[in-house]
Amino acid sequence: MQPGKRLSDKVAIVTGGASGIGAETARAFALHGARVVLADSDASLGKAVAREIETAGGTALFRALDVCQEPQWIALIDETERHFGRLDVLANIAGISGRDPTQNIQLTQTAGPRLAEQTLAQWEQVMRVNATGVFLGTKYAIAPLQRARGGSIINISSICGIVGSFGNAAYHASKGAVRIFSKAAAIQYAPDRIRVNSIHPGFVDTPMTRPGHANPDVAKKRLEATPLGRFGTPADIAMGCLYLASDEASWVTGSELVIDGGMTAN
Ligand SMILES: NC(=O)c1ccc[n+]([C@@H]2O[C@H](COP(=O)([O-])OP(=O)(O)OC[C@H]3O[C@@H](n4cnc5c(N)ncnc54)[C@H](O)[C@@H]3O)[C@@H](O)[C@H]2O)c1
Repeated sequence: MQPGKRLSDKVAIVTGGASGIGAETARAFALHGARVVLADSDASLGKAVAREIETAGGTALFRALDVCQEPQWIALIDETERHFGRLDVLANIAGISGRDPTQNIQLTQTAGPRLAEQTLAQWEQVMRVNATGVFLGTKYAIAPLQRARGGSIINISSICGIVGSFGNAAYHASKGAVRIFSKAAAIQYAPDRIRVNSIHPGFVDTPMTRPGHANPDVAKKRLEATPLGRFGTPADIAMGCLYLASDEASWVTGSELVIDGGMTAN
């Protein structure tokens, strides 16, 4: 392994690669020598991030993906293997908050509807993207990772997958599902040297959280709950992804990496 090239020769798929944590993870992977497929439902942002990585000397391509659509996963995995010859890393980062943009976060202090007002459609949408999407990606990554004689799957959960809050219960449930799904997958595929871990970010400044953090009351409350006294950056989380993707983490599976400025330690 060359210094500074912690993912030399690896091929990685990063879902949610068009924005926030996913975009920063794709940049970090490419900087460290990986060839990266950015997969996202937002084609214009995703293509722009891939172009930026290529301009900086990295190797990246963008492919449109709705993580809920099984045939799209099959096509993505197939194309990645055909284009780059292998797959070593899958970072399942795409996700949604389920926040209703018409809802006034200032009044409710929550990122979504309370339970009694939550519709089945809202629940199913959050579960489909955040939990079923991770299941599908993991399911279809297994065969190429077996062909590569091992690899790393990184599933982005949240502190909301560890503790509850006043916020959107569907979001909590979906992230809790990602946490425990990752452990089950880790055990099933440890004999194939496929490592599966979850990452649990606290409050990170991204397009997902910006509408909430633009409200000074919400921002103050969240910062007060964060012992290190600042919001996380996408790079704070990307560094965790980089570690778990690299061979430095070759004895790490089924673990949950909390990166939250100390919030859940409290
Ligand atoms: N920002 C935070 O504070 C925070 C905290 C904990 C966990 N997370 C998790 O981190 C992940 C990344 O979030 P972010 O904060 O970078 O948000 P973001 O909104 O910037 O990025 C999310 C990306 O996922 C993509 N996406 C959404 N639905 C998709 C689908 N069906 N198929 C494919 N792509 C889809 C979006 O287009 C977007 O590019 C999410 O899973 C989120 O739940 C974020």
